[in-house]
Amino acid sequence: MAIQTIPTQPFAGQRPGTSGLRKKVTVFTQPRYLENFAQALFDVLNAGGAGGRALHGQTLVLGGDGRFFNRSAVQIILKLAAANGLARVLLGQGGILSTPAVSAVIRRRHAFGGIVLSASHNPGGPEGDFGIKYNAGNGGPANEALTEAVYARTQVLSELRQSDAPDIDLDRLVLQQVEQLQVEVIDPVADYAAVMRGLFDFALLRGMFARGFAMRVDAMNAVGGPYARAILEGELGAPAGTVVNAVPLEDFGGLHPDPNPVNAEDLIAHMQGADAPDFGAAMDGDADRNMVVGRNFVVTPSDSLALMTAHAKLIPGYKDGLLGVARSMPTSAAVDRVAKALDLPCFETPTGWKFFGNLLDAGRVSLCGEESYGTGSSHVREKDGLWAILFWLSLQGATGRSVETLVREHWRVYGRNYYTRHDYEGIAVDVANTLMEALRAALPALVGRQFAQRRVVVADDFSYTDPVDGSVSGQQGIRLMFDDGARVIFRLSGTGTEGATLRLYLERYEADVAQQDQPVQQALAELAVVAEQVAGIRVRTGMAGPTVAT
Ligand code: G1P
Ligand code: ZN
Repeated sequence: MAIQTIPTQPFAGQRPGTSGLRKKVTVFTQPRYLENFAQALFDVLNAGGAGGRALHGQTLVLGGDGRFFNRSAVQIILKLAAANGLARVLLGQGGILSTPAVSAVIRRRHAFGGIVLSASHNPGGPEGDFGIKYNAGNGGPANEALTEAVYARTQVLSELRQSDAPDIDLDRLVLQQVEQLQVEVIDPVADYAAVMRGLFDFALLRGMFARGFAMRVDAMNAVGGPYARAILEGELGAPAGTVVNAVPLEDFGGLHPDPNPVNAEDLIAHMQGADAPDFGAAMDGDADRNMVVGRNFVVTPSDSLALMTAHAKLIPGYKDGLLGVARSMPTSAAVDRVAKALDLPCFETPTGWKFFGNLLDAGRVSLCGEESYGTGSSHVREKDGLWAILFWLSLQGATGRSVETLVREHWRVYGRNYYTRHDYEGIAVDVANTLMEALRAALPALVGRQFAQRRVVVADDFSYTDPVDGSVSGQQGIRLMFDDGARVIFRLSGTGTEGATLRLYLERYEADVAQQDQPVQQALAELAVVAEQVAGIRVRTGMAGPTVAT
């Protein structure tokens, strides 16, 4: 075994996006592509880029969602880690750790940080996507300053430091050695399960299943399976088979592991059947996203956050009340209404979980959520799919009410925020950029403009000043806000790997209970027309409509 210095050359385009560096597997498997990124990360961390402390002699957590290239990537990173001064790596068995589990392990074991190997909800397999993301000592995604520093380093990198040691055994729960580096293979579920036990009333949940409560969790052949099985079926006594598609597969069995009604159609079909279970839920590739479904009733993620906020005191982990809540800008304002009623601080951040980190660390918020099927709390620094599922299970246990009844009651009290997101995928990058530029240029003229019965009161490009560290993030999405509370928002995705994806978010508020039962797309059709009028999406892209509407 020896540490080698190997010459390398920069790859263009290694800038992390909304959530880490994501590329096609064919890109990641090029010789030295992953190596370069990992070396750049280690260089930045060793230079104290994470806030002064150097990585040298420290512990990192490592694991991924089990997708194609996960196991090889683990071996590569260990060889670099061994040559870059790390003392210890806590590695999930089989190279597996869900994103929220990485966060939990970093926090419980006081690790320096962690590396997540995942492209989240993007498809996997040899033709699919791969990704890598660094999480800091708080357990949360690295901030922009750090990811930018890593990117800058990738652009000037000339050398890799790597051990030539043989591959280690990823599957046995033992301590191994690569050069001076100790690699401890850990149970991927244990730390995470301990955190869940501390938040929820497991006795109550056990009682529900003992009395025949029926649930279906679709893990979409992704990493959430082992967690859901261990906790729901193992600890809480849910019948075997409650968790389906529970074994993580390298290509997710060909499924698109994004829990929305379009991709989780099998779950939706089950929840519509005559013998539908009481409760349905799904998670994404790395188990940080969740979708909550009742019998014949799908919960919008924005509503989910609002309901969790309204009922948080029913959950042991939040029984003393919340410090505050935060939502990403495109997420509906349903939670704002609850926060107002409960007199809670409510923050609006740019898209991406990393923007919640400072608020959580500073004790300003306890719950956070995004419209993209992400909810989470201060228990970790990532969104957390299974946590959200246990939260909703607990709400049903504590109130005795069904998912649908809970949501309808909520709308009666707070009103309903009709909400949809239209994705236009695979647009040519220049067409997408031109569309956004044209919108930006049109903003001043849009203020005050009347569209049918609505008038635009704000037309801007969202800019966020972090209330904790004062950092400013500009160009975070174009907003049209109307005098009746309706909103039309445009932004480009920062997670895609092919062309550009335009996201159009539509929202309007309905206080009248008699008007709260319209089909969502119908209720928002007028706003879709406004969006088209303003942005000319169809004309510019030649697309007849969105590729996905959720
Ligand atoms: C998408 C979602 C965003 C989420 C991110 C990572 O990012 O919109 O809310 O935080 O995935 O899961 P986008 O592709 O829109 O940049
Ligand atoms: Zn994810």
